[in-house]
Amino acid sequence: MCGIVGYIGHREAYPIIIKGLQRLEYRGYDSAGIALYDGESIKLSKTKGKVADLKEKLENEISTSGTLGIGHTRWATHGVPNDVNSHPHYSNSGDLVIIHNGIIENYDSLKKELINRGYTFKSDTDTEVLINLIEDVKKNENLKLGKAVQIALNQVVGAYAIAVFDKNKPNEIVVAKLGSPLAIGIGEDEYFIASDASPFIEFTKNAIYLEDEQMAILRRGKDIKIRKIKTDALVDPYMQELQLNLEQIEKGGYDHFMLKEIYEQPSAILDTFRGRLLSNEAVIKLAGVEDNMKKFLAADRIIVVACGTSWHAGLVAEYIFEDLARIPVEVEYASEFRYRNPVITEKDIVIAISQSGETADTLAAIKLAKSKGAFVFGVCNVVGSSIARESDAGAYTHAGPEIGVASTKAFTTQITVLTLMALRLARAKGTMSSSEFRHHLIELETIPGKVEEALQSDAYVKTVADIYKDSKNCLYLGRGFNFPVALEGALKLKEISYIHAEGYPAAEMKHGPIALIDEQMPIIVIATKKGHYEKVVSNIQEIKSRKGRIIGIVTKGDVSVKELADHVIEVPETIECLTPLLTTIPLQLLSYHIAVMLNKNVDQPRNLAKSVTVE
Ligand code: F6R
Repeated sequence: MCGIVGYIGHREAYPIIIKGLQRLEYRGYDSAGIALYDGESIKLSKTKGKVADLKEKLENEISTSGTLGIGHTRWATHGVPNDVNSHPHYSNSGDLVIIHNGIIENYDSLKKELINRGYTFKSDTDTEVLINLIEDVKKNENLKLGKAVQIALNQVVGAYAIAVFDKNKPNEIVVAKLGSPLAIGIGEDEYFIASDASPFIEFTKNAIYLEDEQMAILRRGKDIKIRKIKTDALVDPYMQELQLNLEQIEKGGYDHFMLKEIYEQPSAILDTFRGRLLSNEAVIKLAGVEDNMKKFLAADRIIVVACGTSWHAGLVAEYIFEDLARIPVEVEYASEFRYRNPVITEKDIVIAISQSGETADTLAAIKLAKSKGAFVFGVCNVVGSSIARESDAGAYTHAGPEIGVASTKAFTTQITVLTLMALRLARAKGTMSSSEFRHHLIELETIPGKVEEALQSDAYVKTVADIYKDSKNCLYLGRGFNFPVALEGALKLKEISYIHAEGYPAAEMKHGPIALIDEQMPIIVIATKKGHYEKVVSNIQEIKSRKGRIIGIVTKGDVSVKELADHVIEVPETIECLTPLLTTIPLQLLSYHIAVMLNKNVDQPRNLAKSVTVE
């Protein structure tokens, strides 16, 4: 987590850095800071709070001129969020200054050694240890900054994306990466540094993504030099042309990114299957699957590893793969899987699902699976992300940037990719007839339009939100393909409105949660026509007899649930395995409106961050 930004060139660094930090705030937002070199000295300002708080403080506190600078927005790991623990951090001499995203795991032993050598520390952070280690190496061996950074990093265990500069050499910034992302924008006689490309998208389309264990020296007016940290070998820079544009990362008239992203789902799902789903020819083209078809067909089972919302998408995939392609699927929390000594063989396929492609636990889980010989397939949104690169093959979701911390379009596009995979494998395995296959393709093609229709319930969902916004607890129930949607609905509500919510398989309710039901308890039940409709209706009756307040998510034209429920929200009809793509929509809207009505920060809920790059 944490976002880092830097600039060296001919422009004023401050506006680039402050705007860049605002764009990266989704990565962490409990404190922020900037260090600028104004031609004579380093001007540093930092504060607990948001980037807006920093901006207000800083503009009264320091001069903002200078063409070299670094900035940071923090999600605290070592040390509480306060001014002192905020980045950037100085070295003891005050000559060096650093920003850091990641964790230095052996910081404690390094700190003790440095204290023995006379160093003092102001903060509780691992980062201040790192900058003093760099200073120590630099001083003792009389080295240039780049070399000192390299030697110091070779003593470090952990993860980092760092940027460091020296006030005595204000013509260069040294950056390095292991485990946390670092993009370098290449302009005319200028370099931009950031955790992703969004801070520099209006300045250059040319970017280099540093690989793990690489460092780069960015010198004013000189070509970039990239080296391997361990071996010192020079690396040829691989420049990419960015596809991102400014509109994609702005709110475009919506009050929040989350709402924009909810409304983007019809086009995001379309982008996910564009060029891959060819219903006229009854073909699905997914290069990552096609190129590895033998492996998929020989696989004993699929293991899905993911976290949070992506884990919920994995659970939907379990139902879809098993139902359509008859391949056994296990869905694992990456954080548990990686430490469980799991039984994995070369005949397993591991599918890693991750919007950011940077989630530390998911990344570690696939490294483990690979080391045991499994074939790893990544389903990521962020192109070139660590999980995408670490996977043997994969399929991007093409959802476009997701900035709201609560995942919305990432979920539905992940399900879309996973459905395409399951369908392709079902056809290859012969577990589906050609007419069934064609029918599924045609139906999948109608989903963007049906999502659009589901979005039309927005105004009604808002009135429902108004009725239930003051609830203390909330229960979400679903069965079959819609059980994971119930989990996802509950997660959305709790993470942005801080209302306690639980998702359950509807029938499981009588084994415990039914005890919670009283007149105060809203229960959202997904009761679409296909699947276990009658059984869910019976579950609704059980709730009704205990006076629970029922909000039914039903298929358009439903009659039975309408008679029992306090409110019903309709979604268009579709085949059963595709219903999660529609039933999710009103649940996202419900959480959104409740959170807005409760005056919560929808895009940046407390304690969370968009990419969880720490375990
Ligand atoms: C919830 C949410 C998180 C993420 C989780 C995994 O709305 O966004 O639960 O789904 O942190 O993140 P990725 O998909 O980036 O691996």
